[in-house]
Amino acid sequence: MPHSKLFTEFTVPARSGAGLKLRNRVVLPPMCQYSVEKRDGVPTTWHLAHLGSMAHGGYSLVIAEATAVAAEGRISDRDTGLWNDEQAEAWKPIAQYIRAHGAAAGVQLAHAGAKASTYGWLKDLEDAGKSGSISADDGGWETFTSSPSELYGLKPATAMSVEQIQASVQDWADAAKRADAAGFDLIQIHAAHGYLVHQFLSPLTNKRTDEYGGSFENRTRYLREVIEAVAAVWPENKALGIRFSGEDWVDDGWSIADTVRIAKELYGYGVRHFDLSSAGIGKFNGPSGPGYQVPLAQAVKEALPQDAFVTAVGVITEPMQAEQIVVTGQADGVCVGRAALGDPQWANRSAQELGAPMAFPAQYWRGRW
Ligand code: FNR
Repeated sequence: MPHSKLFTEFTVPARSGAGLKLRNRVVLPPMCQYSVEKRDGVPTTWHLAHLGSMAHGGYSLVIAEATAVAAEGRISDRDTGLWNDEQAEAWKPIAQYIRAHGAAAGVQLAHAGAKASTYGWLKDLEDAGKSGSISADDGGWETFTSSPSELYGLKPATAMSVEQIQASVQDWADAAKRADAAGFDLIQIHAAHGYLVHQFLSPLTNKRTDEYGGSFENRTRYLREVIEAVAAVWPENKALGIRFSGEDWVDDGWSIADTVRIAKELYGYGVRHFDLSSAGIGKFNGPSGPGYQVPLAQAVKEALPQDAFVTAVGVITEPMQAEQIVVTGQADGVCVGRAALGDPQWANRSAQELGAPMAFPAQYWRGRW
């Protein structure tokens, strides 16, 4: 039987204890479902069915969508949250279900900053045809950021005061505590895609003149404070992760060199899962095509100690392509997003194609390939 590296185990280290053992290297990346019907941040049966089907599908780490640490940090009013205990309670059976079906349960903690209060991508009849910032009539809310920028093409956001920044850091820590109470094995800090953390990191959008803007040291201060506050409350025996936009793909923007530099610092704080996406500020200006972000993961992997779990994402759709990324050491694992929406059994089907054992659910066994 051919040996697949993609379908060998990997242990994501924690700051103490045995770490988080993954059954293979195929990760479900966070994907907003815009399915909170009551607009209260509480996940629903859709989230259970969606994430549960990915655990059935053989993924090793199932990461729940961008989940807001504060109500005003939601991309849309259909986003999930972890800013109150009712939300944490509702996540419990979901995390438990994922874990009961052999996958590790992760959640991406997020704050959209200036990109909050938008209609989102799932249009029901009521919102049909609407895009961009939610109007005041439809319940749009004030948004906050490092410093206002026209690059988002959305309504202007308010620059956060230092007190608001500090309160926001506390929101991340409180949400991390709730993620622990909800039973998640891993949290991923969303520092990508032009959302609040990225709005601080990128010189394209951070024009502050105080200690949170200007130099690399200052632009990364908010992120470092978030990580420090989260690490203080997130159990030492659980894994801590981050998703970066490794590049703005714009001259004088946030670059892969900046990403490598902050990734090394965050490793020092105990972050061990690094996922490398890109862009999110202004018009997309980057490369495209299969595996186009893999070199970003490779750059971070080469700079970090070997025990880090570095994943590549973006147009990874074929089993052999994914295998190749891991075998050649460009990344330790891959995230497969859109291909999973069309085929929740992507991981199992790939295992079968690569000659590795499948985690096919017993209930489905008569339908195996
Ligand atoms: C996404 N993506 C995304 N990224 C993220 O960091 N947090 C999120 O909540 C979401 N939400 C989301 C929703 C939907 C419907 C899609 C399709 C994508 C980006 C996603 O995680 C992934 O990085 C990209 O889809 C690229 O990977 P694929 O789809 O080419 O495998």
